[in-house]
Amino acid sequence: MKKIILALDVCDFNKAEKLVKETASYVDVYKLGPILLLRCGEEIVKMIKDNGKEIFLDLKFHDIPATVKRAIESARELGVFSLTVHSVGGEDMLRAAASVKNRPKIWAVTVLTSQVANRKEVIKRAKLAKVCGVDGVISSPLEIALIKKECGREFDVITPGIRLEKVDDDQKRVATPEVAIKEGADFIVVGRPILDTVDPTETVRIIYNRMIG
Ligand code: C5P
Repeated sequence: MKKIILALDVCDFNKAEKLVKETASYVDVYKLGPILLLRCGEEIVKMIKDNGKEIFLDLKFHDIPATVKRAIESARELGVFSLTVHSVGGEDMLRAAASVKNRPKIWAVTVLTSQVANRKEVIKRAKLAKVCGVDGVISSPLEIALIKKECGREFDVITPGIRLEKVDDDQKRVATPEVAIKEGADFIVVGRPILDTVDPTETVRIIYNRMIG
């Protein structure tokens, strides 16, 4: 699978469809979050699947164990490839999430990339997620190597906080796509550095080429 996940953080169905069609050669998985899902509902899920692509459902579940379990059963019925939960939901919540049969991959957020984080806390949360049976974590590019060392190579590490150059925005723990891949990221999640450019398709191509070196 290609390692760029494009975050479809746009408000409009047609814009999202154009992005999926135009970036299809470089992207296999698209991130669907509340921005687009709340506007378009299941229609957007269908569009991504009809284009032969997979969905990373980033709704970051953080609730009581029973609710998270049932939310994941609903996500399973939508046929998504992966989804997120918050590791701070705790052990019982993570175990309930992982117990869902025939479920999508579950990736637990360690500490949001928009927050300054203590590496010890990130590793503690990653280890908890692993022990509870989830498939990997969402963490910043700065922690990939350490998480892989502590949790094993087969434990997925997905990294947002990807920036092509230095910018002053809400993301605090950042790195370039090539650094994230070199550090061992299984996927990078990229939104604004692609969406905010004049030619998003060309930017995806540039990122793809930088990643494969
Ligand atoms: O625009 P930008 O490249 O910062 O987008 C990153 C994407 O990854 C956003 O859709 C954001 O919601 C998501 N994300 C994140 N940090 C996490 C988990 C998901 O930035 N820990």
